[in-house]
Amino acid sequence: MKDLLQALTPGERDWRLATQLDPKRIPAHIAIIMDGNGRWAKQRNYHRIFGHKAGIAAVRIAVETSVQLGLEALTLYAFSVENWKRPRHEIEGLWLLLKYYLQRELSTFMANDIQLVAIGRQESLPSTVQAELQAVMDKTAGNRGMRLNLAINYGGRTELIDAMNSILENARLEGNLDSLEITEDSVSSHLYTAGLKDPDLLIRTSGEMRVSNFLLWQIAYAELYVTETLWPDFNRTHLLEAIFDFQNRDRRFGGLTRTPLVNTDSPAFMLEEEMLELPLA
Ligand code: FPP
Repeated sequence: MKDLLQALTPGERDWRLATQLDPKRIPAHIAIIMDGNGRWAKQRNYHRIFGHKAGIAAVRIAVETSVQLGLEALTLYAFSVENWKRPRHEIEGLWLLLKYYLQRELSTFMANDIQLVAIGRQESLPSTVQAELQAVMDKTAGNRGMRLNLAINYGGRTELIDAMNSILENARLEGNLDSLEITEDSVSSHLYTAGLKDPDLLIRTSGEMRVSNFLLWQIAYAELYVTETLWPDFNRTHLLEAIFDFQNRDRRFGGLTRTPLVNTDSPAFMLEEEMLELPLA
């Protein structure tokens, strides 16, 4: 958070927004469904791939701002297991853009201590994309500042299937298949995001009210924030606004609100308790 304030000019809009944030309640992990590239391009009579290209600039802003805010993790949905249904030239364009992004951003990752991790079924990606991803993952493996997950050929259901199979395989290898008990902890520790906190905030751009098979397990208690802004237009101001909105939510995790609605010390409350003891007529 300190880094963000230092990067801003006092008095400017983002500085004013940033000073309204509570530095102690910045989300540890933000996940983003980057949607609307195609519509952004269509509005300008461009080919869809130019929307994805413009989307890269928004990725760079989101990553830079997340580092300055001190996030532990940022997870971006770049390509889903369903996206293979798109025209071949669009998919190939996306791979080209991804390789270009990785080559160009490696120095930024190193300078900012960012660890890049691809989550999803990488084995089905073109070999050149796999190689580029692996190279950047290897080079950034020791970075501990922020974890940047790129969800590529990712699906929440396939992730859960992979986790279940991995639990089964481990149990088989250890010879304790018969006594195997699946727990929340065992599932979490076999997900692609093992070891990371679950996202506190899930942002989706372009107004669609869906989670689209993204991080199905991990977003159980995430706050959802949907904005009409198309992904290529999503900038630092939009991200700060999303965090401001997040900080004004009452996160109860299934419990009660932080400020009790009922004063449990009041005589009236005692009376209510006594009333609950009474048999029903
Ligand atoms: C959804 O918009 C976006 C995608 C399927 C691809 C996201 C890719 C990028 C932001 C650029 C490359 C990313 C990285 C990390 C280098 P859409 O095409 O479904 O938009 P539409 O709903 O308006 O058609």
